[in-house]
Amino acid sequence: MRALTMVLTAALCCAQVVRCEVYTSSQDLTAVFALERRLVAALNNYVGEMEARLNRIRRYLHQYEQVSAEGASTEEGIMERLAGNPVHAFHLMKRLTVDWKHIQNHNNIDDSWRGVVEALSGASVGSGANGGVAGSFRVRLPREEDLHGAAQALVRLHDVYNLNMTQLVRGNVWGVESYAELTAQDCLYMGKHSFNLGLYPRAIQWFEEAYLLAGHEGNATVSQDQVNMFLNTAIKAYDEQVLGREGDEGSLPLHTAEVDPKKFKYRLGSDLTPQEDALNFQALCRGEQLLSPEYQASLSCFYDTRGEAYFRLMPVKVEILHHNPELMVFHDVISDKEIETVKTMAHPVLARAMVQGAQGKGNTVSTTRTSKVGWLDDSLHPLVARLGHRISLLTGLSTDVAAEHAELLQVSNYGIGGHYNPHHDYLLVDKSEKEQLLHNIHPRELFMGDRIATFMFYLSDVTRGGATAFPRLGTAAWPSKGSAAFWHNLKKSGHADTATLHGACPVVIGYKWVSNKWIRERGQFLRRKCGLSPEE
Ligand SMILES: *[C@@H]1O[C@H](CO)[C@@H](O)[C@H](O)[C@H]1NC(C)=O
Ligand SMILES: *[C@@H]1O[C@H](CO)[C@@H](O)[C@H](O)[C@H]1NC(C)=O
Repeated sequence: MRALTMVLTAALCCAQVVRCEVYTSSQDLTAVFALERRLVAALNNYVGEMEARLNRIRRYLHQYEQVSAEGASTEEGIMERLAGNPVHAFHLMKRLTVDWKHIQNHNNIDDSWRGVVEALSGASVGSGANGGVAGSFRVRLPREEDLHGAAQALVRLHDVYNLNMTQLVRGNVWGVESYAELTAQDCLYMGKHSFNLGLYPRAIQWFEEAYLLAGHEGNATVSQDQVNMFLNTAIKAYDEQVLGREGDEGSLPLHTAEVDPKKFKYRLGSDLTPQEDALNFQALCRGEQLLSPEYQASLSCFYDTRGEAYFRLMPVKVEILHHNPELMVFHDVISDKEIETVKTMAHPVLARAMVQGAQGKGNTVSTTRTSKVGWLDDSLHPLVARLGHRISLLTGLSTDVAAEHAELLQVSNYGIGGHYNPHHDYLLVDKSEKEQLLHNIHPRELFMGDRIATFMFYLSDVTRGGATAFPRLGTAAWPSKGSAAFWHNLKKSGHADTATLHGACPVVIGYKWVSNKWIRERGQFLRRKCGLSPEE
């Protein structure tokens, strides 16, 4: 544009300052032709520049059309379907951070552009657009950290679930097909994230795929040479890591990617190493069976009244997933309508999940847990109290919140990649008095006693992933809308049951809603018999 203006300014100067009669001689006409030629060249430049700009916008629109074409072909809400797919989520972040920034940087000069910018200001989103959260709320444009977050989620999913790379880049995420494909550049980006997380075997896989794709693409998004550089660095880092472990006889593989399922022997029990816990957890998340066939044969499903007249006419469907410690699932114990009410109530109170901070530093946003949580008081709605009462009937324990026999009902919403690393639910028994002080534990917590038991409603189905896995028991509860998992965290003796270590597997596709009730120790002394031996 600047070049064009300069040409025009020169022409005007000629007309005004020199006042030459341009038409009187052929020489003058030649000069005007020459002038026009410069103008045309500048206009051509300008058109080229505009077209490049338009093409950038067209590419953006085209990408969006491809994505929305997929949504149109399904029954589910388009936004839910797209938001529930990790590759779509990554592309969305990329479009709104990298691509949009690019477009914006080149289009801030004319008035018609203002309308585009205004479309983004004061953006608010109607109901259902955020993984089923009802109501309307303001959204902001994603930032670079959101793009990193989306890439990290994808990297973690690939890692934990050992997803097939060939299928993943073609839009097939764990058997669910979509139009969300990955380019060589995307794979390079994922490789870098894997590398930064220290997942060298995974980084190598991503870089190798990026190299292959760059070949197919004719080096369009990234060149093979560039990829090679990163590949070599990752191989070197991995070799050094392996060398560092040599001489450490019989040590476990550091990483799932190195586990040969034919040779590796998974172990169960309450004395596992952190690494065994992690490997078991990931295997369970993938749906692998760690219990022996004999043990599995001892598990059962049955109808039960739970010793309550309340359930005599409508017995509860009980499924036993593990004996001692007993892990059970109750089926169909909360209706779809009740679930909708709980979600609607939870929406305004959901905030970024906080996990107890280390060293009593209070609450910190954490990467060991990625979800939103909110707490519902019994007085908020008659349903909350009713659910509390139902939990009491099902578990035989007191859930009286006012008497501090149980905590408020907690509601959590996990999005893509949303997970909670393996942990114990008890807060006190594993800590000395000094540690309790250190962890800033409130005297009231001590009064209520520890979290003797956990009751967890599943408020949604999850398309892929999202199990609650118990690496030391070798089993997992899979989310099924309307069911609930239940287990004791303390032994009858009051000692911690370390075998109850559990975690939430990352959500691969879809979203996950759960609601927890933690039942405290003190209120249960008439309800749960004490054991005499510490092992009981
Ligand atoms: C991954 O998927 C591709 C295409 O479906 C298949 O050919 C390949 O064997 C799979 N790889 C693994 C390791 O399962
Ligand atoms: C891509 O680049 C590599 C070097 O980085 C080169 O060897 C290869 O021939 C290129 N492929 C195409 C299709 O241009």
